[in-house]
Amino acid sequence: MNILVINGPNLNLLGVREPAVYGRTTYAELLDMIRAWAAELDLSVEFFQSNHEGALVDAIQDAPGQYDGILINPAAYTHTSIAIPDALRAVGLPAVEVHLTDITRREPFRRISYTAPACEITYAGLGPEGYKKGLEYLKRRLAGR
Ligand code: DQA
Repeated sequence: MNILVINGPNLNLLGVREPAVYGRTTYAELLDMIRAWAAELDLSVEFFQSNHEGALVDAIQDAPGQYDGILINPAAYTHTSIAIPDALRAVGLPAVEVHLTDITRREPFRRISYTAPACEITYAGLGPEGYKKGLEYLKRRLAGR
């Protein structure tokens, strides 16, 4: 089971970016944590990060045939993008949305997720642990449980 983990804009700056909001875990450390969780779950993971909406759409379009599921933190595009959820629906792979913060308890403009309806489940507000929950969900989902 091969999972594509997609991170959207500014997540490459984790650790230095607004640490009071997003924590001190760096992007590289987050990837190490995800790699370790995936190994425990016997999942293979690959990562894609971009600050560009079209590049995220291209990565989603290229996923079928290479990946069995998608774990995505669309970051700010969560609240603005139609193209990303359209791409997720177009490829039809099981997708999980994750957010480090609880977007339902932040500024009003973050409370709307255009991407969530194209995903099977959302984990928000759990910090990096949300990625672990997402991997666990995909493992169960792909095993048919
Ligand atoms: C985020 C929440 C978004 O509102 C924000 O734009 C991000 C990160 C999160 O992981 O909490 O960049 O997706």
